[in-house]
Amino acid sequence: MTNFPVIAVDGPSASGKGTVAQLVATKLGFHYLDSGALYRIVAYAAKQNNIAWDNALAVTECAKTLNIEFVNEQVLLNNLDVSSEIRTEAIGKGASQVAVHAPLRATLVDLQHKFCKAPGLVADGRDMGTVIFPDAVLKIFLTASTETRAQRRYQQLLAKNQPANYENILQDLTERDARDKGRASAPLTMADEATLLETDNLGVSEAVDYILQKYQVLLNT
Ligand code: DC
Repeated sequence: MTNFPVIAVDGPSASGKGTVAQLVATKLGFHYLDSGALYRIVAYAAKQNNIAWDNALAVTECAKTLNIEFVNEQVLLNNLDVSSEIRTEAIGKGASQVAVHAPLRATLVDLQHKFCKAPGLVADGRDMGTVIFPDAVLKIFLTASTETRAQRRYQQLLAKNQPANYENILQDLTERDARDKGRASAPLTMADEATLLETDNLGVSEAVDYILQKYQVLLNT
């Protein structure tokens, strides 16, 4: 299915996989897919259109009408920059809720495959290695304890001068983990052949170097 090398980076919310995957892509000169942004855009668009996140049919029909583009660092929805609107905690929660709908997930498959272009792709999400790019050359499952992830999210929000409450973040992350792992369609799970990378005591650059080294070893074999 994929003609170019894909590195799949999956893991739970706030594990740091986005930052790490993006840096790996930059170092290799690969394309980058932030698949979570797609579910966030759908949640955002549904909200704008007064569609309830648990309405599988209406959410899926809404998704089919959307023109989604990634231009440099910007996420464009119908030509409008929604990069910051889709990054709120509320939309993250909504993304996790719309992501349970199998018809919606099916609708987004082709779009995700289109990111796989020369010279290669680094894709981050929940089901990159298990469902979307099962023949990825390298699969990484990046994670950290819920407390570490909540602490990171808390610090990120403070740095952005946004309201932050550690206990609420911890509870939200626990709920999102349960929903992302427990859903019937493409649940968050580690692919059999994936390498587990726990980042509680690992910095971003160490995680990036680890993935680059693993990829280099693959190239040399
Ligand atoms: O990675 P993120 O926090 O931006 O993702 C937001 C939500 O989208 C996440 O809670 C679950 C969903 N998601 C998914 O179901 N499958 C993916 N490949 C990526 C994200």
